[in-house]
Amino acid sequence: MFKLGRNDRCWCGSGKKYKACHEQSDEEKLAPFVEKGYPMPSRELILNKEQIDGIRESSKITVAILDALEDKIKEGMSTGEIDDIVSDMTIRAGGICAPLNYEGFPCSCCTSINNVVCHGIPDYNEVLKNGDIINVDITTIYNGLYSDSSRMYLVGDVSEEAKQLSEVTKECMYEGIKAIKPYMPVGEIGNVINDIADKYNYGVVRALCGHGVGIDFHIDPIVNHYRTEQKTMILVPGMVLTVEPMINKGTYAVTIDEEDGWTVRTADGSLSAQWEHTVLVTEDGCEILTV
Ligand code: MF3
Ligand code: CO
Ligand code: CO
Repeated sequence: MFKLGRNDRCWCGSGKKYKACHEQSDEEKLAPFVEKGYPMPSRELILNKEQIDGIRESSKITVAILDALEDKIKEGMSTGEIDDIVSDMTIRAGGICAPLNYEGFPCSCCTSINNVVCHGIPDYNEVLKNGDIINVDITTIYNGLYSDSSRMYLVGDVSEEAKQLSEVTKECMYEGIKAIKPYMPVGEIGNVINDIADKYNYGVVRALCGHGVGIDFHIDPIVNHYRTEQKTMILVPGMVLTVEPMINKGTYAVTIDEEDGWTVRTADGSLSAQWEHTVLVTEDGCEILTV
């Protein structure tokens, strides 16, 4: 069912069958890259209109929760309470929190404070303090379709260096997204992001990447946020992926908590920020779905 067959309606929304619409031009545009040895997306990564519209519906839930948190996140609140809000709003909207029980993850979203890079586990004993910066990462499943987005929230009076890190990380995400064009290697996104981070001497996390998303939580392509010379997968209209740079004030090195097996921290203890959107590759660029 989740596979764009030759007889399915084309991703472009023309209403025509894929084989009578974009199949041939997709393949022709890919041919030069095939010759050079670039990895190609498998057919099931190219979504049809129904799937894409389903991800839009899923995104509405994710975005409504991220929006609601803008007013709610305050000094004195625990990350466990944030998790409850995410869980309640998702369930009321008819969705499922993808993180819960995902590979054993114990909560409904990720909450990552200050030097925590990502995958922080919400906890009622972890209380937000004035000056903290926190990323809340939400992934919703709605009618089987996934949307994945995260934002930074600033608690009270935040230092200039923390504010700048969050702002530059947001810029990295948006500039990375703006660079997305069909029939380009996905690695171009990381080149753009790494150039911006370099200007500030920030470290671009390498151990964790963006990913294809939509019909499942984490699928191809791998979306690296750092510069690479590798031949990366070619993007085609109808593919859906995340851009989610994790940027450190210090070096890019990270550690994973040995006890909980999840919490990723900067190795040097410096601050880290992350922003994430789910993005559709279109015929002339891309479209952010988590808006
Ligand atoms: N939402 C994260 C991402 O952007 C993944 C979290 S996995 C979890 O890919 F298990 F920690 F929730
Ligand atoms: Co993601
Ligand atoms: Co996410």
